[in-house]
Amino acid sequence: MGIQITPSILNADFSRLGEEVARISSADMVHVDVMDNHFVPNLTFGPSMVEALSRATDLPLDAHLMIEDADRNAPAYAEAGASSVTFHVEATKAPIRLAREIRSQGARASMALKPATPIEPYEDLLPELDMLLIMTVEPGFGGQKFLDLCLPKIRRARALMEKHGVETWLQVDGGVSLETIERCAEAGADVFVAGSAVYSAADPDAMVQQLKATAEA
Ligand code: DX5
Ligand code: ZN
Repeated sequence: MGIQITPSILNADFSRLGEEVARISSADMVHVDVMDNHFVPNLTFGPSMVEALSRATDLPLDAHLMIEDADRNAPAYAEAGASSVTFHVEATKAPIRLAREIRSQGARASMALKPATPIEPYEDLLPELDMLLIMTVEPGFGGQKFLDLCLPKIRRARALMEKHGVETWLQVDGGVSLETIERCAEAGADVFVAGSAVYSAADPDAMVQQLKATAEA
């Protein structure tokens, strides 16, 4: 699949999201940060917003669920039209059952790890996942500083994927910019979320293209 850029609309103008997604036509997916004010101290969208966005763009929607009780709440996002549904391992009791349920709904199943959550206990789950998301900030807000301490985990996750011979995508999210994307790519990430870097740029689509070129270099 190669390098993919998935801009986060968390830093876009919520009063005109349809126009905001139209400004990133070079993106590979649109990253939708779902927050419930419990798993993280911030509140954003629910399934009806995902459904509305799916009508507003042809780009695949990448729903990142920062919500409690993912076992019960995640399937609604696949139903709402998300192409990829990412649940946090810290918020699920049965990650294998949940990943299988998401796949059975026709969406890509993805699992996220907060910065302090190790990958090693979950290595046997990799074949059940279409994508692994390694957070490079504490989830909850856009515009935070990239945590370099997460880079070794990206490297270890890539090595485990190679060991298991899986095609799982490796996504990074948090503080990704022209300054930090090379480090992530070098460590083995291939899918890059960028929120403030894209939506604070004068030309968001040019920034998407620049990020991709930098990661590919
Ligand atoms: C943070 C979200 C991120 C956020 C990224 O909890 O998961 O997707 O929007 O924003 P930046 O790129 O500004 O760190
Ligand atoms: Zn996110």
